[in-house]
Formats: sequence, structure tokens, C-alpha cells
Amino acid sequence: MPKAKKTYVCSECGRESARWMGRCPGCGAWNTLSERSAGRDPGIGGVDIPQKLNVVTLTQEGRISSGIDELDRVLGGGIVPGSLILLGGEPGIGKSTLLLQVAGRIADRIGEVLYVTGEESAAQLRMRAERVACLSERLYVLATADGGTIESSVEELSPALVIVDSIQTLFPPSEQASPLGSVRRVRELTAHLLRLSKQSGIPFVATGHVTKEGALAGPKVVEHLVDCVLYLEGERHAPFRLLRAFKNRYGSTNETGVFEMGESGLRSVTNPSEFFLAERMAGCSGSIVTAALEGSRAVLVEIQALAGPMGEGGGSPRRSVRGIDRSRLTMVLAVLERRAGISLSSQDIYVNVPGGIYLDEPAADLPCSLAIASNVLEREIDPHTLAVGELGLGGEVRNVAQINRRLAEARRMGFHRLIVPATSLAREKALSYDDIDVVGVRSLQEALREILV
Ligand code: TYD
Ligand code: MG
Repeated sequence: MPKAKKTYVCSECGRESARWMGRCPGCGAWNTLSERSAGRDPGIGGVDIPQKLNVVTLTQEGRISSGIDELDRVLGGGIVPGSLILLGGEPGIGKSTLLLQVAGRIADRIGEVLYVTGEESAAQLRMRAERVACLSERLYVLATADGGTIESSVEELSPALVIVDSIQTLFPPSEQASPLGSVRRVRELTAHLLRLSKQSGIPFVATGHVTKEGALAGPKVVEHLVDCVLYLEGERHAPFRLLRAFKNRYGSTNETGVFEMGESGLRSVTNPSEFFLAERMAGCSGSIVTAALEGSRAVLVEIQALAGPMGEGGGSPRRSVRGIDRSRLTMVLAVLERRAGISLSSQDIYVNVPGGIYLDEPAADLPCSLAIASNVLEREIDPHTLAVGELGLGGEVRNVAQINRRLAEARRMGFHRLIVPATSLAREKALSYDDIDVVGVRSLQEALREILV
């Protein structure tokens, strides 16, 4: 076994020195250097002798901006040096596009960027870089399936950022036995990237495809290894994309980034409510707007419903839904029938949340039921009315989180009649506004009376 090199570490500031000194060159304290026990390397950022926690250096200042605001927001302020970030998502959702844009921006502003692709040829990458206008003098490509070449290239270039696209299409070094994309290989490559990022202090961003079949050999199997896991979501045929942090060692996981996929790549959407309401049609029954929470932001979206007599041939009526959980729709329909007396059993019903966003919170129950009732009864809802609330099986309207954030966004977007759970107003001490009408309701029937004027 090679003899471990001796190092001396200051107990005050954590600075390492190759030789012992009476006074620490880092903080100037006397007699604080002691020998690090020869043994296993504690790893970068590791401390193997007790150090005061309040003098541990924070990496916050060292963050580099990705050049894309919505991504920085999700990361908690930018990319942390020496971190390994994993970007997961379904094939074709835009992972490579987003990372190429980040690569271009960082190459322009900060330094060399190495883009390693096991998916595309160098020429294909160049074409894409031209399309998203991020071809930079300092952007380098490595088009190979051999992950073993990354280390020497990183040493040679000493880039500001390394992109690895993807963990499923590159081989880890010195490992040729298990098949490409197998769990073992994906883990080994990720561990290799982790080592490289920690040793060099260079941030790495790797992509991983989520497959329809589930977690097997996808990003899930390496989530525990990496510092940060982001997912890019959306419907492939709609332009809207949502970036969520699933795990973040350096920030909160409560932020989401909103993007629009266009002709020249992904564009940050700074006003999502405007984006979702842009194509709304006025004077149409079966439409209402709600305020959904996406991370810490309230976003206004439209919910549309269409009902019509059941198609020929008998059987059960059709329930078609996009953007809302099917089982929640089933419940909403049952509550409408039983508690509000609206007959739906011979109606085909379609519910749609335009724009490709998925509302996964119960707060969409009430607006969903109001949109359906509005269309079935052919009564238009005032276009500046918004509703939010969870429905119980008794027809009661239940509390939703963060009511004030939703009210503020609705007001900002020019809505002046807001139908919300009475309990939310009581619980959160709702802000009172003079210029808008905030109506607290206790039941679905009450909400229907307020809305179907
Ligand atoms: P891509 O980034 O290759 O997805 P992933 O890496 O997640 O598999 O995105 C591919 C899709 O994005 C493809 O269907 C084309 C579309 N796209 C645009 O709409 N605009 C663009 O500027 C680019 C580069 C791609
Ligand atoms: Mg790709």
C-alpha cells in the first residue's frame, strides 16, 4: 500500500498545509495545526478531524450562474462547483437542448465547456448548437461512448463545466462486461463522474432518460449518488416544460422552472400565468380559471369542460381527461351528481387543462366541478372569476394551502371575483383587498350559486 502523504489541518479554519507551522497561514491562529491521521482520504469537502461548524467555508459565493434564470432558480441560485447534477426526463423532452444552451452561455461568459455526447455525432451537436444560437469558441465536444476519455479531456481543458449526455449511453472506464444502459453500468459511470467532479472541483451535469417502463436503469438508480436531481417534464407535443428539483443538497426542492420549447430551444417563461391564459376564448361556457401552485409560485391556468349526450351503442359514458388526475375527476363527477343534483350519467364528459400542464393538487377539484356544471347547464362563468378549493365527498369545500399567494396572483392578472374555501380565509388571515371581491364558500352548492348567475 502506498504511504499516505502527511497533511496538517487547522482546527479553526480548516485550511490544509503540507507541513506543520506554528501559525496557520489561512486564519493566523496559533498552534491550531494538527496532523491529519494517515488513512483514508475523507474526500473533497471531507473533514476527518473535528472542525468548528461555524467556520466551515460556505460554497454559496462560488455558485456560477447557468445563464438561464429559471434553471438558476431551481438550483437555488446557480451551479455549485464540484457538484454533480442529474437532469432526468423522458426522451425527446428537451434535456440535451437545455444543457446545450447552458453550455453555450457558460462558454460565452465564464470559460471552456466540455460537452460529452454518447447520443449524437459531433456534427449533429454542431447543427443543434447553431439552431439554438449557442455556438461558442470555448465550447468543446467529445462524441464517444467511452466514458473513460472524460478524465483526460477534463485534465487537458480544465473546463468550467462538463456536460455528460447521457448516463445510459456512455461506458464507464475499464468496464466492458455488462450491457450498455444496465443498472450496474449506469451506477458505475455515475460514480466515476462523481469522483471526477469532487476531485477537480468542476461541476458536472449529466442527463438520464426516464423510460415509460419505470425506474429500471434510469435516473432513479443513481439519485442517491448525485448532489442534485432535476426532472424536465411536459407533454412532448405541447411547448410548455416544467423543471422540478427532486433532490438538492444545496438548496430547496420547492422551486420550479417554467420553459417554453420553441424554434430556437427553450425559453424561460417569466410570467407563466400569462402564458397559460394567452389563448383563452371569451364567452364560452365550461371554462374557468384557477390558481395552481407550482413550487413556491402561483400560476393561473384555465380548466375547460365539455359535456355532450352519450355516443350511440350504449355502454358507459366517456370520461376523457387531460391535465387532471382521472380518479379525482371521477370523484368530482360523483359529488356533482349526488350533492348538487346535476345529472351526468348519460353524458360524455371531456376535461382539459390547455397548455400541457398537469394539476396534481386537490385545489383543482372545485374549479373542475364548476367548469363541468357551467357547460352542462349552458351557463357561462364571468371570465374574470377564479375558483380554487378541494372538494370533499359531502360536497364541502375544503381548505387549500397558500391562499394569499393565489389571491395575489389572481389580482395581479386582473381577476376581480375569487371563489375560495371559507376555511382557507379563516386559517391564513387572508389579505383583504378593496378592489377585488373575495368570496369564501363552504360547499359546492354555495359556489354554484355564486358563479352561475
Ligand atoms: P432533445 O433536447 O433532443 O430531448 P432529449 O435530450 O430530452 O431527448 O429535444 C428534442 C425535441 O425538441 C425534438 O422533438 C425537437 C425539439 N426541439 C425544438 O422544438 N426546438 C429546438 O430548438 C430544438 C433544438 C429541439
Ligand atoms: Mg438528448
